[in-house]
Amino acid sequence: MIETIDLTKKYGDFFALESLHLKLEKGDLFGFIGPNGAGKTTTIRILSTLLAPTWGEAYVCGHSIYTHPREIRRAIGYMPDIFGVYDDMRVIEYLEFFAAAYRIYGKERRRVAEQSLELVDLTVKRDELVTSLSRGMTQRLGLARVLLHDPQVLLLDEPASGLDPRARIEMRNLLRRLQGLGKTILVSSHILPELADICNRVGIIEYGRLLACGNVQDLLAQVRGRPVIRLRVVGPQEPAAKILEDTPEAAGVSVRDGEILVALADGVQDHSPLAARLIAAGHQLLSMGESEVNLETAFLELTKGTLGRQPSPETGSAS
Ligand SMILES: Nc1ncnc2c1ncn2[C@@H]1O[C@H](COP(=O)(O)OP(=O)(O)OP(=O)(O)O)[C@@H](O)[C@H]1O
Ligand SMILES: [Mg+2]
Repeated sequence: MIETIDLTKKYGDFFALESLHLKLEKGDLFGFIGPNGAGKTTTIRILSTLLAPTWGEAYVCGHSIYTHPREIRRAIGYMPDIFGVYDDMRVIEYLEFFAAAYRIYGKERRRVAEQSLELVDLTVKRDELVTSLSRGMTQRLGLARVLLHDPQVLLLDEPASGLDPRARIEMRNLLRRLQGLGKTILVSSHILPELADICNRVGIIEYGRLLACGNVQDLLAQVRGRPVIRLRVVGPQEPAAKILEDTPEAAGVSVRDGEILVALADGVQDHSPLAARLIAAGHQLLSMGESEVNLETAFLELTKGTLGRQPSPETGSAS
């Protein structure tokens, strides 16, 4: 339903998106995960035909973004990360307004508006002003809006951002329900655990590059058996983390919440050389231990989200 081939977007010499290869089958609920600036919105906007790539190809429902953008727009529901609602409009009027924009007229217009409201559980707010809705409800209204023309593909850019835990759960349930209706859904988030258990597949992107892609269990299996060590030194953690980055035993190093996380390199079981290095460099070790592989550490390990790592030189200068 969605396929991208070598999809690339450059701003000057900067790669916002670099050679993305993605393939989503019909019915997939695909979690597109990455930190701020990773390239998620860029990808979604290209798929929505709102942004032209620098090179590469993308197909949505078999249509190329270059030759058949109109067909793609008809086939997708795109929910941007930030969208405005109009003052002085009631919820039902808001949806009817957009239904008209999709050229749905007459009785059918009211019917699809009511149906979309029902689908997102907002019928009780039908006659309220859109500006009176809470953030979570506004997000659901945004979703109702992109469902009006019954699209096959949904492109949802961080629909759960800014929601409280309960509203997040509702959003997840809603995504499941939409998947149950046979929609193909690409949903972005910067939090892996948020999507991991509802998506059948996830892709992890950072600095415009897809680092890992597959089903969640397979991704976790990639990092299992590769222990993550947590440690803490006296004083700032960053200088110690820099030293650990250069040790052959470490595959990835990051600092989080005043702690250093080290993913051990392939085949390394004994982590004592890490401590030896730090002590030799004059650091005082406060604590050190092996960490459970959970989704958070798996995410860190997969993205190797290190100390403000920049795109590699060959990426920055190639043009
Ligand atoms: N118009 C632009 N001009 C220059 N750089 C841009 C432009 N739009 C995006 N970028 C850069 O491209 C990169 C990817 O941005 P993008 O918005 O796709 O990230 P994102 O993954 O959606 O991040 P977030 O989680 O913050 O929404 C960022 O470094 C961003 O600064
Ligand atoms: Mg974004």
